[in-house]
Amino acid sequence: MASIQGFRGHAIVGARSTAAIRFQGSSLRVGIAFSSVEGPLNKFGSLECSCRMEPPQACNSTVALPLLSISEVTERLRAFHESGARNQDYMAMYSSIVGGVTTDPAAMVIPMDDHMVHRGHGIFDTAAIMDGHLYELDQHLDRFLHSASMAKIDPPFDRSTMRSILIETVSISKCTHGSLRYWLSAGPGDFQLTPSGCTGLAFYAVVIRVHSLPSPSGCKVVTSTIPMKPQQFSIMKSTNYLPNVLSKMEAEEKGAYIGIWLDEEGFVAEGPNMNVAFVSKQKELIMPNFDKILSGCTAKRVLALADRLVADGRLTGVRLGNVTVEEGKKAEEMMLIGSGVIVKPVLQWDDQLIGDGKEGPIAQALYDLIAEDMKSGPTAVRVPVPY
Ligand SMILES: Cc1ncc(COP(=O)(O)O)c(C=O)c1O
Repeated sequence: MASIQGFRGHAIVGARSTAAIRFQGSSLRVGIAFSSVEGPLNKFGSLECSCRMEPPQACNSTVALPLLSISEVTERLRAFHESGARNQDYMAMYSSIVGGVTTDPAAMVIPMDDHMVHRGHGIFDTAAIMDGHLYELDQHLDRFLHSASMAKIDPPFDRSTMRSILIETVSISKCTHGSLRYWLSAGPGDFQLTPSGCTGLAFYAVVIRVHSLPSPSGCKVVTSTIPMKPQQFSIMKSTNYLPNVLSKMEAEEKGAYIGIWLDEEGFVAEGPNMNVAFVSKQKELIMPNFDKILSGCTAKRVLALADRLVADGRLTGVRLGNVTVEEGKKAEEMMLIGSGVIVKPVLQWDDQLIGDGKEGPIAQALYDLIAEDMKSGPTAVRVPVPY
């Protein structure tokens, strides 16, 4: 969803750009030079990138790229969206850069020089939209602000203003079932490392319509060989998700759903975008401590709701603690927990079947408790959206 767009949408206007593509040996080199009649864009200078590919028959060829006006770019962005290139239903986007909300997916762009794009200097969070309510919005907002302070991003608005912007964006979207995602960024301004030359922090939010909850079907997981992020970075929800992406890709290449990360002491940590929990043979629900991993809002809610299973005797207890790989693989049940999966049973970890290799009753009961909580939980976890 990132595109080249000047700060506040003005910068490309009045600028001249030239672009050339040429083949050099087996590399394709793309050069883009910007210059501005007004001056301020001169700092962009020129960009050059290259990728390896088979050289075409005629070498040293130069391709002329069209020079597009902002309205032609808009037309092409709309055509791109209408081509079905995205498989998501984007309902609305708020951007502090433009100071408003759009419901046109073609306009849901952020500036290319935003430090969240080219340095990963941003943090984000989510909240599910269920029956016209935002589920655990305040719990996610708390984590969002905690991540922001760890990433040295001082929000451009106070908490209650950001909360209102989020609720209003969902209201404008008219979306009653789906997901709200939001970001705080060091902001646009240049391509340097620190945000000292940036013009201000940026706040973005997107509403995506999703019709149904994820199914509680079982899955296979593998031990990730991609190293997990060190504690300082794994406890914040920053936009640096490359290790998470590579871990998930590695798992999929091995025919599994996700990779399980182990911490440096070999204890079970988490998945790339979900927490992990186990039910021991003694029917105790155990989750790894949150000190080296992301403190999952869903996992914390599961811990609270699981008391009901202790009360009715289905569980003997609930606790946070270290889990070794051996203990995990011998568990009666293993499950993944997060906003994206709710509660998903794990049937196999590497070559080891978990329990009898079938979806277990506790994972199903916890899934049902969260699904029920999303639909009719207390006001502390359900914020109504005034449409
Ligand atoms: C690394 C990581 N761990 C755990 C979670 C689960 O958190 P939540 O339940 O708040 O979605 C996520 C969610 O995106 C995540 O990215």
